[in-house]
Amino acid sequence: MTAAAGAIRTQVAIVGAGPAGLLLARLLDDAGIESVVIENRGRDYVEKRIRAGLLEQGTVELLERAGVAGRLHEEGIVHHGIHLQFDGERHRVALSDLAGGRTITIYGQTEIVKDLIGRRLDDGLPLLFEVDEVALEGIETATPRVRFLHAGARREIECDVIAGCDGFHGVCRPAIAKHLQFFSRDYPLGWLGILAAVAPSSDELVYAHHERGFALLTLRSPELSRLYIQCAPDERIEEWPDARIWEELQARVALDGWSLAEGPVLEKGITGMRSFVSEPMQHGRLFLAGDAAHIVPPTGAKGLNLAVADVALLAAALVEWFGSADDTGLRHYSAACLARVWRAEHFSYWMTSMLHTFGDPFEQRLQLAQLRYVVSSEAAARTLAENYVGLAGSRLGGADIDGAARRVGPISVPR
Ligand code: FAD
Ligand code: DHB
Repeated sequence: MTAAAGAIRTQVAIVGAGPAGLLLARLLDDAGIESVVIENRGRDYVEKRIRAGLLEQGTVELLERAGVAGRLHEEGIVHHGIHLQFDGERHRVALSDLAGGRTITIYGQTEIVKDLIGRRLDDGLPLLFEVDEVALEGIETATPRVRFLHAGARREIECDVIAGCDGFHGVCRPAIAKHLQFFSRDYPLGWLGILAAVAPSSDELVYAHHERGFALLTLRSPELSRLYIQCAPDERIEEWPDARIWEELQARVALDGWSLAEGPVLEKGITGMRSFVSEPMQHGRLFLAGDAAHIVPPTGAKGLNLAVADVALLAAALVEWFGSADDTGLRHYSAACLARVWRAEHFSYWMTSMLHTFGDPFEQRLQLAQLRYVVSSEAAARTLAENYVGLAGSRLGGADIDGAARRVGPISVPR
C-alpha cells in the first residue's frame, strides 16, 4: 500500500471483513497481490458475531492451503454423520459412507474470522475497522475507487478491482443493482439460536422434525452446545426467556431413553430466513462474493461454504489476470459461482421445506413421506449426503460452466 496525494493505491479493494473478504485477502497475499480490506464494524464485534459452524471438507482444505488451519485442526471436530429425527425416532445418515469418505467439521465462523484477522494483522497488512460512508466510484472504468470515512478523515482507495464482500446488507450490490437481476424467496420462518455452556447431548448433529416446529442440535466444542429452534421471523428475543427456550427444545427433541442436558445460555438471537441470488455476480470492475451475492436458508449449512468457494474462484481468476492478463477466469467467475450457488439454493430450500412446520396437515404428511424415504432408500440418503458434505470438483454442477457463461453473455472487464 502506498499513499499518494491522500489516496491509498492497491490492486484489490476489499469491502467487508467477514469470512469472504478476509479469506480473499489472505489468498491474494499468498500470490503476491496487494489488497486493502475495509470493514464498517469494530474488530471486537466482527470477532464475536456468532453464525455458522459447519464446514465442508473443501472449505477445510482451502483454509489449509491458505495457511490458517492450525487451530482449526486442533479444535475443529470432524463428523461422519448426522441424525434426522421424526415421528419419535432418530435415524443416522452415514454421510461419509454415502459420500465417498468425505467429512464435515464443526468449527465456529467466529474462530475462522479471528484466525484470519490475527494472520492479517501479524503480517502487517492493511485492514481498517470502523469505516463509514463507503461509496464506490468508476466501477465501469479501469481505475475504480472506494471512498470512505475513517477515524474522522476522508479516505480513498484507488485500485484495479473491487471485491464486494460486504454481506447481504452492504453497499456493493446496491451500487450495481440496475445491471443485475435478483431472484428471491421469503419464508414465514425464523431460527432462534442459542449458545449454551453445556456438553452436547448428542455427538452428532440432530435435525428434528416436530409438529411444534423444527429444532437443531449442534455444538461448538466438548463444553459448548449450539441449539436452534424454529420460530416466526418477526418474534422478539425478549419473548423468549431461557426457560421457555429449553422447554421448547425439550419438547421438540424428546426421545425415549435419551435426554437433552441444559446449561447457562451465553448468547441468543433470532434470524429470519430467505433465499436470494443476484445474477450475474459482477459488473465492470466490481466482483461480488459471499452473502453480498446470495443467501440461503441455514438448514443446509451452506452460506459460509458458498462464500469460501466464491473467493477461491475469485482469487484464482485475479491471480491469472494480474499475472498474465488472461481474463478467462474473471469472465467466467459469475457463471462458475452461480452453478454451485443454485445447487446449494435447491438443497437448502429442500432441507428447509422438508424439516419445518408450516401448519398445513397435507404438507406435514408429504414431509414425513420424504423423511421416511431419505432414511430407507440408499439413493435418497446419498443425495442428501453428497449435497450436505459438498459435491466435489466438476460434479458441483460445473460441467456446464462454459454454457452458463455463454448464457450470461459477454462480461466486460475494462482494461
Ligand atoms: P458476512 O459474514 O456478512 O460479512 C460481511 C462483512 O461486511 C461484515 O463484517 C459486515 O460488517 C461488513 N460490511 C457490511 N457493510 C459494509 C460496508 N458498507 N462497508 C464495509 N463493510 C461492510 N453458513 C454455513 O456455511 N454453515 C452454517 O452452519 C451456517 N449457519 C448459520 C447460522 C446462522 C444463525 C446464520 C445467521 C448464518 C449461518 N450461515 C451458515 C451463513 C454464514 O454465516 C454466512 O453465509 C457468512 O457469514 C457469509 O460470509 P460473508 O463474508 O459473505 O458475509
Ligand atoms: C450449524 C448451523 C446450521 O445452519 C446447520 O445447518 C448446521 C450446523 C451450526 O451452527 O453449527
